[in-house]
Amino acid sequence: METRVISLTADFEAGIALGASLLASGCLVAFPTETVYGLGANALDARAVARIFNAKGRPGDNPLIAHVAGIEDVYPLVLEVPPLARSLMEHFWPGPLTIVLPKSERVPGVVSAGLSTVAVRMPKHNAALALIRASGVPVAAPSANLSGRPSPTSAKHVLADLNGRVELILDGGETTYGVESTVARLTPNGVEVLRPGGVTVEMLRLVADDVLVHPAVLAPLNPASEAVSPGMLHRHYAPRARVLVVEGDDEQRAEAICGRYENDSGKKRIFCMEETRRFYQGKAYVIMGNRQDAGGMCARLFSLLREMDEQNVDIIYIEGATPSGMGLALMNRMLRASGFNRVSAGQAGEGPI
Ligand code: TXA
Ligand code: MG
Repeated sequence: METRVISLTADFEAGIALGASLLASGCLVAFPTETVYGLGANALDARAVARIFNAKGRPGDNPLIAHVAGIEDVYPLVLEVPPLARSLMEHFWPGPLTIVLPKSERVPGVVSAGLSTVAVRMPKHNAALALIRASGVPVAAPSANLSGRPSPTSAKHVLADLNGRVELILDGGETTYGVESTVARLTPNGVEVLRPGGVTVEMLRLVADDVLVHPAVLAPLNPASEAVSPGMLHRHYAPRARVLVVEGDDEQRAEAICGRYENDSGKKRIFCMEETRRFYQGKAYVIMGNRQDAGGMCARLFSLLREMDEQNVDIIYIEGATPSGMGLALMNRMLRASGFNRVSAGQAGEGPI
């Protein structure tokens, strides 16, 4: 199959029209959202959705998000929209919040990977919204990467992973957030975050009384416990290199990283911040961003991980982030990229890698 790439800056209308007609005829179209690029298919067409799993090499037990262009479009897809879900939509849509609700019969089982729920989201991106509207259907879309690879934040990343596997890539430039949406489900008194993203816990607290964060966000899932979001079980965002997340205060962390850097063999990179680069003079380091700007670091993380692959880096040492605000999403993606290979700088001597 030949993969076409159309620049939306060059011809927005033509790109959207072609994308919408391809979606309507059961084809796959990669498109930009405010978070990461999505790999879309008509969510009501089970055969088209099955092709997404093939193209990505995605395990069949990992459900997809149905993307809509308005709150009213959710109703046919679900059994009910409880009042709190409605408020969340009104506050945060369009935007990076995905809400898990009981699914209706209209949603094919392949979308929800056999679960009784469906995840829904209205993206905040002109092209994504125009595409969904023009296609006239909800669009099932996971991130447009090969399964296990970092999510794509540019059309170039999508092409690197999916060339020859999808009909069309709509190029809308770099995405804003760079990490995927927050995934939340309702609980008796509020919500539980299954995957942190652009709508932070602090923001959710403005709307929901009780906001929980699932323990699997910052620690490996206990295999004995229920996998509430199958994505939690799968390997994620992993570059070719081994990744080690180092936590602790600036000095201790730098000392631990430098010690390992001297001892480990292979091609090494340190992911640090503007404020901590001074500890790593003479070593190969990459600046993720400023300490105060966890959102900015999120926006660069996946792209940096992909660059490390291109440079055949063997080991990446990452400075751990403070898990509040966008720092929670940042730390979650770092830990997942490392396969939860983490060490606390105080006990640096005994840690893994
Ligand atoms: O920002 C995003 O959410 C991007 C863009 C393209 O919209 N999409 C995305 O999709 O990240 P994906 O498939 O890579 O991640 C969806 C996550 C997975 O962790 C999946 O397990 C979870 O949402 N999920 C989907 N349906 C679910 C459900 N019914 N119950 C619980 N978790 C669900
Ligand atoms: Mg994904």
